[in-house]
Amino acid sequence: MPDDLGKRIYVKSVLSYYLSRTVQKNLSYKKYRVDSKLQYFKPNFQKIEKSFSDEISFSLNQDLKYIHPKFFYDKKGSELFEKICNLPEYYPTRTEISILKKLKDELPRYFDGSFRLVELGSGSSVKTRLILDILTQNQEKIEYFPIDISEILTESSALLQRDYKHLNITGIVDTYECGLEFLKNYDDKRNLIIFLGSSFGNFTTDEGKEFLNKINSTMKEDDLFLIGLDLVKNKMILENAYNDSQGVTAQFNLNVLSRINDELDADFNLKNFAHYAIYNENAQRIEMYLKSLVNQSVIISKANFSLTLKKNELIHTEHSHKYTLFQIHELMNQTEFIIKNIWLDQNDHFALILVSKTSKF
Ligand SMILES: C[S@@+](CC[C@H](N)C(=O)[O-])C[C@H]1O[C@@H](n2cnc3c(N)ncnc32)[C@H](O)[C@@H]1O
Repeated sequence: MPDDLGKRIYVKSVLSYYLSRTVQKNLSYKKYRVDSKLQYFKPNFQKIEKSFSDEISFSLNQDLKYIHPKFFYDKKGSELFEKICNLPEYYPTRTEISILKKLKDELPRYFDGSFRLVELGSGSSVKTRLILDILTQNQEKIEYFPIDISEILTESSALLQRDYKHLNITGIVDTYECGLEFLKNYDDKRNLIIFLGSSFGNFTTDEGKEFLNKINSTMKEDDLFLIGLDLVKNKMILENAYNDSQGVTAQFNLNVLSRINDELDADFNLKNFAHYAIYNENAQRIEMYLKSLVNQSVIISKANFSLTLKKNELIHTEHSHKYTLFQIHELMNQTEFIIKNIWLDQNDHFALILVSKTSKF
């Protein structure tokens, strides 16, 4: 190797090591090393508790009260979400899996080298396995960076590691945004970023564009981004998916109040609330709420906050936007992505979109 090339590689790797340490330091992560192939970064506990308490007291103090959907995912919430994925009415999971299964031969066409797999909202990492199976056709070793706000990440990573011997996992237990900050300038390796489950649909239109811009600015020229989006469809199919007959989605929605009770020392009486989910056709989104069944007041001790609710008053907990193909093209265009391919299921219910920053491929 020529001397100055070696020097440049050395300087670059020291710089990228320094930058990644700086990001980790600024975001005040603690590193947990399980073994040589599995490590996690987690923010400190005080930071998490403070932000939960601050955000909840702010959002429940608005005229239109809301709770951010990221707070659904404590241990119980993540377990309930896994149950939702297996419900007969909840078509998104099995539909997206059916598309992923079709990509075994097609996706590798876009891979002209090795990629690290980065997953936003990795959850149980069940779908991840299908992507790992595709990547292992081309590369022997794979680095995987799951990013998830829930501790479920640690369990699913351990299971993945058991089943994929050549996998190196670095988990970031934090929000998507902080995970992307962590990744930015981490090193020179190419990333395939995936964001599945139509979780993107939780963002409002403006937030969604801002988020895509953030992903775009995190990506290097030859990185790829694969996103799963739910499509506009029959209202009954949509409303049934969020109002299942076994009441699991209702439990999932109400569980956020149990979480506030447990972690912020609050006295929400769950019997005084009902799950309410409707499809707003104009806004093209499922809107999920907790409806107050009585006039009531609630104290959230650790947030130093008390809340009054009128009978039938709603607390908004989730949006789940649905898209048309035209809107997907528009969205990617506006956020300076180039669509490499869009794959649909046989009923046109769900779309997987592969994009890049440049037209290189
Ligand atoms: C709807 S689930 C999807 C899980 C999986 N990707 C799938 O497709 O089945 C959303 C996942 O993202 C995580 N999550 C939700 N909001 C988040 C946020 N703001 N930042 C990081 N993770 C988040 C949740 O813990 C959960 O595991």
